[in-house]
Amino acid sequence: MDKLIITGGVRLSGEIAISGAKNAALPILCASLLSAEPLTLTNVPELNDIGTMLKLLAQMGVKVERSAHTVTLDASALNNPLAPYEMVKTMRASILVLGPLVARCGTAKVSLPGGCAIGARPVDQHIKGLQAMGATVTVEHGYVHAEVTRLKGARLFTDMVTVTGTENLMMAACLADGVTVIENAAREPEVVDLAQCLIAMGAKISGAGTDVIRIEGVERLHGATHRILPDRIEAGTYLCAAAATGGSVTLNGVSSGYLDAVVDKLLDAGCEITSEKTAAREFIHIEAPARLKAVSIRTAPYPAFPTDMQAQFMAINCVAEGSAVMRETIFENRFMHAVELQRLGANIKIDGNVAFVTGVAQLQGATVMATDLRASVSLVIAGLVAEGETQIERIYHLDRGYEHLEEKLAQLGAKIRREKA
Ligand code: EPZ
Repeated sequence: MDKLIITGGVRLSGEIAISGAKNAALPILCASLLSAEPLTLTNVPELNDIGTMLKLLAQMGVKVERSAHTVTLDASALNNPLAPYEMVKTMRASILVLGPLVARCGTAKVSLPGGCAIGARPVDQHIKGLQAMGATVTVEHGYVHAEVTRLKGARLFTDMVTVTGTENLMMAACLADGVTVIENAAREPEVVDLAQCLIAMGAKISGAGTDVIRIEGVERLHGATHRILPDRIEAGTYLCAAAATGGSVTLNGVSSGYLDAVVDKLLDAGCEITSEKTAAREFIHIEAPARLKAVSIRTAPYPAFPTDMQAQFMAINCVAEGSAVMRETIFENRFMHAVELQRLGANIKIDGNVAFVTGVAQLQGATVMATDLRASVSLVIAGLVAEGETQIERIYHLDRGYEHLEEKLAQLGAKIRREKA
């Protein structure tokens, strides 16, 4: 397996481009199932998860054309509403085909995603919503089986805020007979981007971005062209890398509008941040102090501090001045980066879903292991500031969610290279 070799101590400077958002592209690729006409997407990131989703859709009969960041999907010959375990087990987001398949075909057989490193990740809310819309849904031999003549509009209430649950049910409701209202809906920008793509395809949706989304079902959706919004978590990650190294970095193709909670914490840590969004360009610029102040965080659904940024902030708190309390409220096991950061000399104590971090003057390079996507990148950030060389193993996790990570960091001056297995 490939590994990354980082020599710490370089202050990052310069500028890089931010890619399209993985967590918007994944549901939007599935939206192609809802129409018999082609859907063309631009600014699609080149990531392993995107490749996996395209393979999953192709084996269902979707014609896929891809050139760099543009993908065209044609589901006119969709003939196999099945998501097999062998493909779903490598990417949980595959569950996002469930709602569109039931809506378009009236039937779907989708492998249960199963848990992953950060938690059990059940999909009971996805199933409950489809049942409320009239589908007969059973779970047998590790597969979700759903059948319906035509979904009916319904008032849905999810027990907790669920991003892909909201996305699955919103897509299903587009072709239902009648009006569906999703209460307690996720408000993430990626949900809004999906809604905008669906509206371009002819869906009638209002309220995306609030906790009540109203969808008036239509007979069919037509083709469209849609540009994927920039990846706010990728942007936040590079802001943390710049902050940890006392850097001066500009991120192009993204503005701070979707990152208010993250920017607030970086300002508290002592950074200066400017951002602009005009017709001509959008960017975020960060100037970081020689040493950050530790910042406490509590993760929660958007617009609060995102769980996908928790690991990155733990890395910067490891070398900041002072102590921080970090409370993870979304997933039950999202501190696996802590033990690896401790191998680099970090002072972290875990008590349930709370991590107590006290900054140290210097981390020491060592060999560490990546366990999940965001945990991996927190180790990269720590390696950028650790004294000496850090080797990060199992970096296939990184390749799932960060496009050309080492090239972008090298562009900012980092001493980083990939060693092929
Ligand atoms: C999405 O996952 C993201 N993935 C995750 O990003 C992100 O961490 C998460 O939302 C929270 O923001 C994609 O969008 C592809 P949830 P999702 O349903 O939708 C519980 C990354 O690093 N729950 O919002 O799977 C669940 O266990 C990934 O890019 C149920 O109990 O998360 C969790 O505790 C990691 N039953 C909480 O809700 C359900 O039916 C929120 O999960 C659904 C969810």
